[in-house]
Amino acid sequence: MADWRQALHLEPPQGWLNDPNGLCYFHGLYHVFFQYCPGSAEGTSAKGWGHWQSPDLLHWTFTGEPLLPDTPWERSGAYSGCAVPCGDTLRLYYTGNVKHPGPHDYIHTGRESNTLLAETPDGIHVGPKRRLMASADYPADCSLHVRDPKVWREGDRWYMLLGARSLADAGRVLLYRSADGLAWELARVLEPTPAFGYMWECPDHFVLDGRRWLSVCPQGLPHGETENQNQYQSGWFALEGDLETGTLSGFTEWDKGFDFYAPQTLQAPDGRLLLIGWMGMPDADYRNPTAALGWQHCLTLPREIEAGPGGLRQRPARELDALAAGRSLALAAGQTATVPLPFRLGMTAPGDFTLTLAGGLHLERSGDRLTLRFTDEALGGGRTLRRAVCGSGPLTLDLVADRASLEFYCNDGTTVFSTRFYPAEPAVSLCLQGADAVVQPLHPMTFSLA
Ligand code: FRU
Repeated sequence: MADWRQALHLEPPQGWLNDPNGLCYFHGLYHVFFQYCPGSAEGTSAKGWGHWQSPDLLHWTFTGEPLLPDTPWERSGAYSGCAVPCGDTLRLYYTGNVKHPGPHDYIHTGRESNTLLAETPDGIHVGPKRRLMASADYPADCSLHVRDPKVWREGDRWYMLLGARSLADAGRVLLYRSADGLAWELARVLEPTPAFGYMWECPDHFVLDGRRWLSVCPQGLPHGETENQNQYQSGWFALEGDLETGTLSGFTEWDKGFDFYAPQTLQAPDGRLLLIGWMGMPDADYRNPTAALGWQHCLTLPREIEAGPGGLRQRPARELDALAAGRSLALAAGQTATVPLPFRLGMTAPGDFTLTLAGGLHLERSGDRLTLRFTDEALGGGRTLRRAVCGSGPLTLDLVADRASLEFYCNDGTTVFSTRFYPAEPAVSLCLQGADAVVQPLHPMTFSLA
């Protein structure tokens, strides 16, 4: 019998999950909020925020839905946002979405996007809400699509990014500044020329290795053979120079797999930059069979982000190492083994190789191409093929296999593929050609309800 309840990934107890929200470490705990529809596994009711907390990224407690769409400013959903520690409370900045009934396109008419603030001492109890900005406050050349505030502090300044779509259908971020995090003035609009997609969602900003980086989710990029293969994209730019005047350079997708969107970062207490994404994709035509069982979607593992000469690298947070369960197993080229989920597989392939999981999912390297291919429709829920360019030298792989998802960290995390998969059994066959691997069984994380 299949068991698709994840052992290593946060997912809703019931209903629907999308973007991670309000990621932070505050008063000794990691807080992971997320877009949540407890009553609908298809995500069709108005969204609120669910909340998980953990002292160590391994033991998680779900505390409920602290942020409900319960004011007129968020009638159609308490959309994505962030959390900023401020004294003894966490400030939650987020978007209140309102859709008016009528013959609207919801781009130029019929929508309100309110930037809202609520405070919480613990991520569980939320105080009164305030509206900081309404649609009329954003630049006049923005459409009504403005959302997903990311707020941070630098010295005595507060900054906020908002993702937006211009009236000319160009993706952009709005940068605001503030002295108190309450009254905001526009500092600049960041929008490349020519336009890079029609809308940017879920902006994030972080500093790594002395440089600034901007993560965004552009919609409307042309699809290529190895680039931008998903319905929508998610990736990072380097922000060269000063925040208020610097320019964006390059764009690299965070993840080449089927299921990755809307990531946010947080800083761990030891200074590491961690990233968590939604292991899902809006408007994709593939399916998740758990929806018929009452829940859908999960978040990615927390990933450590490092800056290297070629850009950003990702790897599973080192906390995961503590889950190693018993002895590892050597899998030699040409061998097949059946391994219970979850597990981790490590290898270095000198040249071309094929790794086949559950008989129907193949990670193949041929020359400088790396391909993730489902040949079993049920295993992939309709997912088919994704490609990446991987260079020609030896290829390293760190695979984390959970009960219904796979994250392939290739070449020291410079190329990552994330995908949901739905094996018929809770143990999967592994067949490897062209390399030797080591497979480490893992203990599950602990998930409890408050
Ligand atoms: C991204 C997104 C955000 C929005 C949220 C609504 O997946 O569309 O832009 O705030 O989801 O759930």
